[in-house]
Amino acid sequence: TQRTLVLLKPDAVRRHLIGEIIGRIERKAGWTISALELRTLDQDTLEQHYGEHKGKPFYEPLVAFMASGPVVAMVVEGERVIEGVRQLAGPTDPIAAAPGSIRGDYGTIVRENLIHASDSEESAIRELKIFFPGLS
Ligand code: GTP
Ligand code: MG
Repeated sequence: TQRTLVLLKPDAVRRHLIGEIIGRIERKAGWTISALELRTLDQDTLEQHYGEHKGKPFYEPLVAFMASGPVVAMVVEGERVIEGVRQLAGPTDPIAAAPGSIRGDYGTIVRENLIHASDSEESAIRELKIFFPGLS
């Protein structure tokens, strides 16, 4: 069984979409939310989390957006949950995301795409350490 880091980004919190998005995750049979917290991310955390994008043109606005309000950080556990939450989220660019996916239904612009989910087992381990260091 796998664990993944999910962040509901500041746009999801501002637009009162927390319940809607968490509902989609909970309705997936066999997945469990095992940690959950509303928190405002500091620069250091964001730099660690999005370090792979440092230097890209969208990096600075991305970090500013992610610090613009609280996010919901959570750990979701279950069978193939890493791939599964990415599937529920849809492609990065909401314009390319199909209706029925979170980004396809609610996304507006590429930066404000509502949700982050770890993209591989390696990323999940790295990101969970940043956000939930106390996890066994
Ligand atoms: P995350 O789950 O947030 O990591 O999204 P992702 O894995 O679907 O995309 P990626 O890791 O490639 O990029 C991280 C975030 O940077 C995206 O979710 C977008 O918010 C933003 N981003 C990525 N590519 C672009 C881009 O070309 N332009 C802009 N403006 N933002 C981008
Ligand atoms: Mg990513």
